[in-house]
Amino acid sequence: MNPLPLADAAPASASASPADGPTIDVAAERDRTTGSTLASHFNAAGAALPSRGVVAAVVDHLRLEEAKGGYEAAAEQRGRLDAVYSSAAGLIGAEPGEIALFDSASSGLRVMLDALRPTRGQRIVASSSTYVSHALHLMSVAREHGIDLVIAPYDERRRVDVAALEAILSDGVPSIVTVAHVPTSSGLVEPAAQIGEVVQRYGGTYILDATQSVGHLSVDVREIGCDVLVTTGRKFLRAPRGTGFAYVRDGLRERLLPAAPDVRGARWVSSASWELDATARRYETWEGAIAARLGLGAALDEAAARGLAATERWLVSAGDRLRTALAGIDGVTVADPAGTRSAIVTFVVEGVASPDAVVELARRGVRVVSVPATHGQWDLGDRGVPGVVRASPHVYNDDTDVSALVDGVAAIATGIMR
Ligand SMILES: Cc1ncc(COP(=O)(O)O)c(C=O)c1O
Repeated sequence: MNPLPLADAAPASASASPADGPTIDVAAERDRTTGSTLASHFNAAGAALPSRGVVAAVVDHLRLEEAKGGYEAAAEQRGRLDAVYSSAAGLIGAEPGEIALFDSASSGLRVMLDALRPTRGQRIVASSSTYVSHALHLMSVAREHGIDLVIAPYDERRRVDVAALEAILSDGVPSIVTVAHVPTSSGLVEPAAQIGEVVQRYGGTYILDATQSVGHLSVDVREIGCDVLVTTGRKFLRAPRGTGFAYVRDGLRERLLPAAPDVRGARWVSSASWELDATARRYETWEGAIAARLGLGAALDEAAARGLAATERWLVSAGDRLRTALAGIDGVTVADPAGTRSAIVTFVVEGVASPDAVVELARRGVRVVSVPATHGQWDLGDRGVPGVVRASPHVYNDDTDVSALVDGVAAIATGIMR
């Protein structure tokens, strides 16, 4: 099997050319990514390989804590910690005061949904791309408070059907609309800005789960028009595990009061009163992994230096090429909805359970994962797909990696697993 080359990949869009901006130096990315030389890692959508700079930021801080103590080390690094907010804001077109740090996207989603205090008479509209943990939270909130939970109708490419969404919102019922920009279970990209325009027009509140899109696609909160965005660090941003952040639009914070204020974001000013921090830090907790946050800061700065547009072009192009190569293998079906253009590639091998394909690929030094329907009942479950194999490249994957993946899948498809 001779896959299409990745390293020299032409830009994804037909109109793109080198004049569109800098491209990715894959060799340099591999040089600064130890794990890229140890296996063919195609799991950026799970947890990408961090660079050596990111790892050093974490380890250096742990050493400082070892020498000085956790509080003293944090005080010494206050400037760099504050810079993490600016770096996060800069990457998504926000202001530092609109950023709150969390240990995961799910914690951010939970805190934000609870701060919205959904009540009977309101409606939650969720995309079929919704991530499992968020869906479970939405269902339990809806059940507990008697709220109408509607799964947004989708079009022939399984993206939110914006006209149908508009028809739902036009009855004037106060609505929270929540959408995963890119889901865990396919490479689908939701029309985030079109959704934003409609939600704004009808006065709804728009939560964008950008866990799989920040660091992957160019994401700008003002262009998208979301009220809240949450994301994680460890995926396409290549930050350490246990990191994430949220954006809350200026002007919304006074309405979005944390359900469980913490000493980090609130001041207990008398026996029965407290004041919330004016910034989005009001949603944070005091305790956090400071070393991991500094690693997040390093990863955000590296993502900005690499360039969002160049990264998006390269990753989308890599996804296109993987899909083309996999679709050319007998017995392999690409499971992404038609027209998908992103670096999350899902497929099934006829007659082979996805977890078995993952084990066989791992034996060949190729790291992918299996996504079961239990991680996306409104998507995979609804499509009647029990599970898919998911391959998600990043800028450190070269042609050798692609050959290892495609050859491995071809070997599985031609019968070694049957
Ligand atoms: C689309 C999407 N949203 C949210 C999450 C949850 O992220 P975290 O594990 O950081 O809470 C994931 C994780 O895979 C995801 O794919």
